[in-house]
Amino acid sequence: MTNGQHHHEHGHTHGHSHGDGGDAMLAELLDLDAEVLGESLSEVAGWVAGHAGPLPAGRVLDLGCGTGTGTFALLRESADAEVQAVDGSEFMLERLRERARALGVEKRVRTVRADLDGAWPDFGTVDVVWTSAFMHHLADPDEALRKLYASLRPGGLLAVIELAGFPRFLPDTLGDGLEGRCQAVVDEWRTQEMPHIGDDWGARLRDAGFVVEEERAFDTELRSPLTEAARRYARASLGRTRERAADRLSSADLALLDALLDPEGPESLARRDDLLVRASRIAWAARRP
Ligand SMILES: C[S@@+](CC[C@H](N)C(=O)[O-])C[C@H]1O[C@@H](n2cnc3c(N)ncnc32)[C@H](O)[C@@H]1O
Repeated sequence: MTNGQHHHEHGHTHGHSHGDGGDAMLAELLDLDAEVLGESLSEVAGWVAGHAGPLPAGRVLDLGCGTGTGTFALLRESADAEVQAVDGSEFMLERLRERARALGVEKRVRTVRADLDGAWPDFGTVDVVWTSAFMHHLADPDEALRKLYASLRPGGLLAVIELAGFPRFLPDTLGDGLEGRCQAVVDEWRTQEMPHIGDDWGARLRDAGFVVEEERAFDTELRSPLTEAARRYARASLGRTRERAADRLSSADLALLDALLDPEGPESLARRDDLLVRASRIAWAARRP
């Protein structure tokens, strides 16, 4: 494996359009997600490794890797596995490489920049594919599943992980259901932007020829006292929600959201002791026969 370098494996430009500003905000959110929900993530990675069997020198693909949450979780599962971490965003990949260097695992990670809505680079034959919070971004996920089937060795494992809804941070009673109303607006926006969000991945996997061995939900609920990172995660997530939902919320809802996001105010997320973190992922372990 090569280390620390930027690999232009192929000639594609990155097809999706958010610039570095958007990527920076998403990257921060992904890193906080990994930190705050790390325990649940390790559980998912352990579950995937259990399905995959021993991974000595395993060839692993992390598709839509972002800042590398899944890459690093899988590397922790096996001392010898090597991961190709693939994403369309150079910003994410640079952050992943920095982290790999800091953890001393850069020789076991190769980053590949590719717009996975376009032609795919040749990943070689792989033993395990991990793809988390990514498949719903694709314009044609069935085509991607066919390509993944072809990339996996017979007996190889594909793990698809998706968030079941967006993480929640506020008690249901706050603002008489404020967060639910915000999420309804964001969900509508997300469904328009990403029509495959919430799809039945089990059915798609079977249609692509995989044998689905298990489908499992991984739920997390963290309550007070929350860590500082959990508060930052709540702030970053609700800040993003505000950006997306502002035009569609009532002025009373917007005022309350702003009061929560105000670091100095009496309602601030920085101080409240009724904050919580509720998140749920669904994972499918699918084998190429
Ligand atoms: C929600 S993030 C998930 C990141 C990571 N898998 C995780 O679980 O933290 C989705 C990632 O998919 C990447 N992405 C979106 N569309 C893509 C495309 N067409 N080709 C390649 N990467 C894409 C984004 O840059 C982003 O890093």
